[in-house]
Amino acid sequence: MTLSTYSFALPTRIEFGGGAIEKTGKEAKALGATKVMLVADKGVIAAGLTKAAEESLKKEGLPFIVFDQVVPNPRDIHCEAGYQIAKEAGVDVLVAVGGGSSMDTAKAIGTLLTNGKTVQDWCGFQLLEREITPLIAIPTTAGTGSEVTPFAVITDTATHVKLNIFDPKAAAKVALIDPAVLLKLPSHIMAATGIDAMTHAVEAYTCKVATPHTDAYALYAIDLIARNLRKAVSSPDIDSCTGMMLGSTIAGIAFGYADVAAVHCMAEALGGRYDTPHGVANALFLPIVTEYNIPSDPVKHALAAKALGVNIDGKDLAEAAAAGVAALRKLCEDVGIPKMKDVEGIDPADFEALADAAEKNVSTPSNPREIAAKDYLGLFRKAYG
Ligand SMILES: [Fe+2]
Repeated sequence: MTLSTYSFALPTRIEFGGGAIEKTGKEAKALGATKVMLVADKGVIAAGLTKAAEESLKKEGLPFIVFDQVVPNPRDIHCEAGYQIAKEAGVDVLVAVGGGSSMDTAKAIGTLLTNGKTVQDWCGFQLLEREITPLIAIPTTAGTGSEVTPFAVITDTATHVKLNIFDPKAAAKVALIDPAVLLKLPSHIMAATGIDAMTHAVEAYTCKVATPHTDAYALYAIDLIARNLRKAVSSPDIDSCTGMMLGSTIAGIAFGYADVAAVHCMAEALGGRYDTPHGVANALFLPIVTEYNIPSDPVKHALAAKALGVNIDGKDLAEAAAAGVAALRKLCEDVGIPKMKDVEGIDPADFEALADAAEKNVSTPSNPREIAAKDYLGLFRKAYG
């Protein structure tokens, strides 16, 4: 094994299991909170998913306000709005409850509270001057991994481009993770977010900047998600939800400290233009991009297939890797991901612009196989069929 040097550190403490969310108040107090902002979208609030956190804050006598202007594929303007409210209220601890949109919005609000300027000023790799306002992250989906990742993906309203605040200073201080929150998740959201988590694991494992530490997380995440996603979508129980929540958090560590690659570059281009749900967008490209990447490292692609549950005994590397792609395609179909042609609003006339946007994505250099706009264009066309 040849390796360059690398370092590996996790800035986020994980509290996993039943009752984790009831620790919100105590954790906020330990972080020095005098005024808390709870960041969540209206759907999460209506579903009662913020209640346990609110009760816990009340129990500790901590005053809090609620910021509910969180939208899917969060935009710079929503983060700026949250920042203004938080600044005026004197917020010193943030609690995000929800999927990636809530947690990423909270990270961007925290960035502005301690670093000032605009969201755009901090998008890039390790640009933050100060740690963000202490953040407690409470995931309610098993997909994004944002509770443990060191970045926030925010859409630029003017350009429709997804930007990335990528800095360990933007990571949550504590993640409170209770898999029971998944039990009532609508099945189409479980499916899309679960495929997002699978994409994180596969891309983290195969990308150029993977390390042995991130590989260990990525392979176990692939295994967990492959074994639990179908059940969690069709008839969720606490075992399948625990498997999915572990899978998405562990995948979050893998890609948060390695990277994603071309699947996400294409998915973010699509999401930036059409607001396609992030998990669905990933699912459209995961099998074909993985197939494209096989020549870069057939051994790793064969091992990924094994983690996906494929019996690779007696198969040569190419056969095993191809069987892994087939397993990914089958998983997407089994959990009801639509075909690209059936996703509303996608216009093939936009593919060249999408290919350019994908090429410009900060994760393009991490793709294991050389990929440029012309290759992305071919993959967009292939995925569309
Ligand atoms: Fe993702």
